Amino acid sequence: MEDERLIMSGFREGDDDQENSLRPKTLRDYVGQQEVKDSLNIYIQAARQRRDALDHILLYGPPGLGKTTLANIVAAEMGQNIRVTSGPAIERAGDLASLLTNLQSGDVLFIDEIHRLSHAVEEVLYPAMEDYALDIMIGKGPSARSIRLDLPKFTLIGATTRAGSLSAPLRDRFGIIFRLQMYTTEELMKIVNHSAGVLGIDAEEDGVREIARRSRGTPRIVNRLLKRVRDYAQVRGDGVITKRMADEALTLLDVDDLGLDRTDRNILHTMMRKFDGRPVGLDTLAATTGEDAVTIEDVIEPYLMQLGFIMRTPRGRICTQAAYDHMKIPMPVEMKPRQSEGQTSLLD
Ligand SMILES: Nc1ncnc2c1ncn2[C@@H]1O[C@H](COP(=O)(O)OP(=O)(O)O)[C@@H](O)[C@H]1O
Ligand SMILES: [Mg+2]
Repeated sequence: MEDERLIMSGFREGDDDQENSLRPKTLRDYVGQQEVKDSLNIYIQAARQRRDALDHILLYGPPGLGKTTLANIVAAEMGQNIRVTSGPAIERAGDLASLLTNLQSGDVLFIDEIHRLSHAVEEVLYPAMEDYALDIMIGKGPSARSIRLDLPKFTLIGATTRAGSLSAPLRDRFGIIFRLQMYTTEELMKIVNHSAGVLGIDAEEDGVREIARRSRGTPRIVNRLLKRVRDYAQVRGDGVITKRMADEALTLLDVDDLGLDRTDRNILHTMMRKFDGRPVGLDTLAATTGEDAVTIEDVIEPYLMQLGFIMRTPRGRICTQAAYDHMKIPMPVEMKPRQSEGQTSLLD
């Protein structure tokens, strides 16, 4: 069921081929994230002038915001190769050791979902990041000794949806940490226009805006919705994406005016109806809605918080007046003072 969620921002089978062709290849073509790009431009230029490897970079933010894309761009702009792996794929310390010893000087090693590295693997990473060295144990028992292997200078780029679940020693070893922001409607429109060009889709500006507005600030979703709206416009219209075509297609997909789908509305509805607006803890919300707690926290909540629909208080999550208005559910009168109380106690 969850996999069928069209606006889930995680990577899905079938995104692959097109995602690669839609991916910008240079920093200049990478839309938005201006502060990140400005900083990267400087760091890249400086490292290139020194003929040095770039410092290790940690990218974090919800799925689909462009972390993998950015890692590839950094390697390309440095003129270096990129090796791609992920936290769950590196099972044993030896797997990481062989990855590291096969790196060439200057290479970029990209570890996606880096928060899912096991502790044993992380231990190997520390000296590698800090001293470009690998400590290997030779032998067993009393005669065991450790030897140190030098590694080429490389750049580690880590990506994670949850910077909070990275261990402090690992986080501290990244010289550069960027948090990717959700994209504005204007930025997403640029992405839609570019993708429409690549895919040969004819789209009017109002249609493009409608898709951008309803894509939860996320490039991966905007590209996915563009393709679904194209299908609709092809069958129900003359192939051109107009505002009306976009609206009809998105409504059919159960994506509402603000980009919320059934799952989002179910979360809000549960908070409003089952809990009568009282603060709800994450695990309780997960159990009541049947959604995975990690999905709620990493994927669903960031956008609801960005919209100002959900607030975290010390006693749990609550819905705001704006959320009640959107859901067309009256806010319980007795909850109104409670909300401001929740807000102020955040400052304590
Ligand atoms: N800044 C951007 N500009 C243009 N397209 C982007 C941008 N960021 C992401 N995309 C598009 O969204 C897709 C998903 O991005 P990706 O880098 O895989 O996200 P993440 O790794 O954060 O989940 C990419 O294939 C690309 O087409
Ligand atoms: Mg990715």
